[in-house]
Amino acid sequence: MLVNAKDMLVKAKKGHYAVGHFNINNLEWTKAVLTTAQELNSPVILGVSCGAGKYMTGMKTVASMVRAMDEALKITVPVALHLDHGTYDACRDCIEAGFTSIMFDGSSLPLEQNLYRTKELTNLAHAYGLSIEAEVGAIGGTEDGVTADGEVANPAECKLLVDLGIDFLAAGIGNIHGIYPADWKGLNFDALNKINAATNNIPLVLHGGTGIPDDQIKRAISEGVSKINVNTDCQLVFAQATIDYCKAGKADPTDENKDKGYDPRKLLKPGYEAIKAKVKEKMELFGSINKA
Ligand code: 13P
Repeated sequence: MLVNAKDMLVKAKKGHYAVGHFNINNLEWTKAVLTTAQELNSPVILGVSCGAGKYMTGMKTVASMVRAMDEALKITVPVALHLDHGTYDACRDCIEAGFTSIMFDGSSLPLEQNLYRTKELTNLAHAYGLSIEAEVGAIGGTEDGVTADGEVANPAECKLLVDLGIDFLAAGIGNIHGIYPADWKGLNFDALNKINAATNNIPLVLHGGTGIPDDQIKRAISEGVSKINVNTDCQLVFAQATIDYCKAGKADPTDENKDKGYDPRKLLKPGYEAIKAKVKEKMELFGSINKA
């Protein structure tokens, strides 16, 4: 059931758990996340980056696929279709395409411009019934070819953004996208607490969910994080499962005993199952099972 993400995250904040945001890249990814959420009776957020949207031939294609799949699979748990790190134009595209939630990432803009654009998009998103996430204090690492140094957000700037009426806030607390370097210092809980205190109980978003130790994830949830974004983890397990399948010779077209293991429906199955297992592991960790 496609819904905007506001209510599920307000409920998560009150209930001291987090909803997983899993980035999708294609049909297999989408089906793996949707079916797992349904099996575990968990709310879920499907994240689509601008790059993934382009890969899938545009946001209209993505929205049509997700809506049709949600219906065909008879998904009854709450599902938000959410733009991840959107530009201004991508936000407008996704509103038009039928997404239920957007993120405007103005963190690389001067603060005044970030505030101005966020306000405009908040009004627009709300007029069409979508929820909106905004960001201040860039998340470090590289995603979709965009690299940013890890920043710790300023609580006063967070408050300015929240006062615009956004629904949830991504604020850097030392988290980064992708694999964490060996000398990473961990999440900055002092910053998280100050941001949480300054932002009137709004659900907070933790990007860069891959590679953060479980105890830090649990602590972040107990101290105000209600949405956790995961992308690289699913990519890694999908790639590994596919590599293992091929290395085992199962896609070998010259081996007649292999029953056409090169058929994409067979070739992509181990990766699909691996994503399902990873999503389940994260939902258990985040505490969202049976919270639909
Ligand atoms: P990871 O790729 O580090 O899991 O981060 C995902 C993310 O934050 C998407 O916005």
